[in-house]
Formats: sequence, C-alpha cells, structure tokens
Amino acid sequence: MDDVRDLAVIRRAVASDLDAVNDMHARCSAETRRARYHGQRDRIRAVEWAALHDPRYGFSALVTVQNHTVGLVNVIGAGPETLWEAGLLIEDSWQGRGLGTRAAAYLVWEARASGACGIEALVESDNARGKRVFSRLGAEWFREEPGVLTARIRFSVPAAVGSDRSPSRPPMGACR
Ligand SMILES: CC(C)(COP(=O)(O)OP(=O)(O)OC[C@H]1O[C@@H](n2cnc3c(N)ncnc32)[C@H](O)[C@@H]1OP(=O)(O)O)[C@@H](O)C(=O)NCCC(=O)NCCS
Repeated sequence: MDDVRDLAVIRRAVASDLDAVNDMHARCSAETRRARYHGQRDRIRAVEWAALHDPRYGFSALVTVQNHTVGLVNVIGAGPETLWEAGLLIEDSWQGRGLGTRAAAYLVWEARASGACGIEALVESDNARGKRVFSRLGAEWFREEPGVLTARIRFSVPAAVGSDRSPSRPPMGACR
C-alpha cells in the first residue's frame, strides 16, 4: 500500500477552494469538526473564507491527495511579531496516516516565514492526536479553561519576511 505522505501536497488556499473545503467538512464527523472548532460548525461561510485565505490576515492551506482535499490549515495573523492563531483539520478517513503531523510542520514553517513570533492552537485536553501533533513540534501547554489547552510554539528568531525561503522549506510533496 502506498504511503499517503508520498502522495500528499500542501499548498496555499485560493478563493475557488471554498467548495472543496466545505465538501471536506461535510465528510468529517461531528466529533472531528468539534475538535477543530470547539463548537458546532459544518461549513465555512464565504465571508469567513475571504478573510481566511487573505494573506493580510494570515494564511490557509489545503492538504490534498491526488487533487482530493483531505485537510485544511488555518492561521490567523494579527501582525508581525505576534503569536498567530492556528487550526488544523484532517478528514476522518485520512487521519492516523501522518498527514496531521506533516500539515502542522508546514503550518509552523509558513507562519515563521510570514513573520510570526510563534503560533498558538486551542486543543481539547482529551484530544490525543491533536496534543501529539503540537507536542512533537515542541509546544508548551497552558490550561485556558476546563477541558481546553493552548499549545504555544515560540519561534526563537522570526524569519525575515520576503527572504529566500527555499533552503529551509519543507518539500510539499514527498517530504517526511
Ligand atoms: C489532530 C489531527 C489534525 C491529527 O491528524 P492526523 O493525520 O490524524 O495525525 P497523524 O496521523 O500525523 O498522527 C499524529 C500523532 O497522533 C498519534 N495517533 C494516531 N492515532 C491516535 C489515536 N487514536 N490516539 C492517540 N494518538 C494517536 C499518531 O501516532 C501520531 O503520533 P506519533 O507521531 O507519535 O506517531 C486530526 O486528528 C484532526 O483533524 N482532528 C480533528 C481536529 C483537531 O483536533 N485539530 C487540532 C486542534 S486545532
């Protein structure tokens, strides 16, 4: 069986991706969507999507396998030299195959390259996969409210925005 990580591509989202993103949300279980959004949500509205993929406010990226959307990265940036708010979603039937780990590494790299000082993500305390993904990247953990943790990853030296990012860029296709 193919290692799906060899087939996965992570790329910046564009406006026309919204339908594929919402189709992917519809294929996700309610539990997975709740773990991502900490409430009931089954789709992203057009006005939200316009902000989510606008580079002035951060970035979004799609995880695709053979052009099929299986995951979504969202990072909301409040400006340079701040911690940016990150979220990660992998469709149920593609979980447990390394894609979340791959997407999180991309997320951290892209946030740093975009000028963030670090990222934060809200993870429910019983979300073993979510905790593992951010712990592997060196997250510190803080309890914000009962049942919810904040994973914080601070970048020691923010990357120069606009610098040549290619030497340290994780490969988008067959990287591990
Ligand atoms: C969290 C999430 C992104 C992880 O994606 P994934 O593709 O399943 O992650 P991976 O396959 O890379 O596995 C991540 C780790 O969890 C471990 N894991 C897999 N299944 C697990 C399970 N059932 N219980 C505990 N750990 C598990 C893996 O072994 C791996 O750890 P390792 O690197 O030590 O081997 C995905 O499960 C998801 O979208 N969940 C719903 C949304 C969410 O929770 N987002 C995070 C908060 S924003």
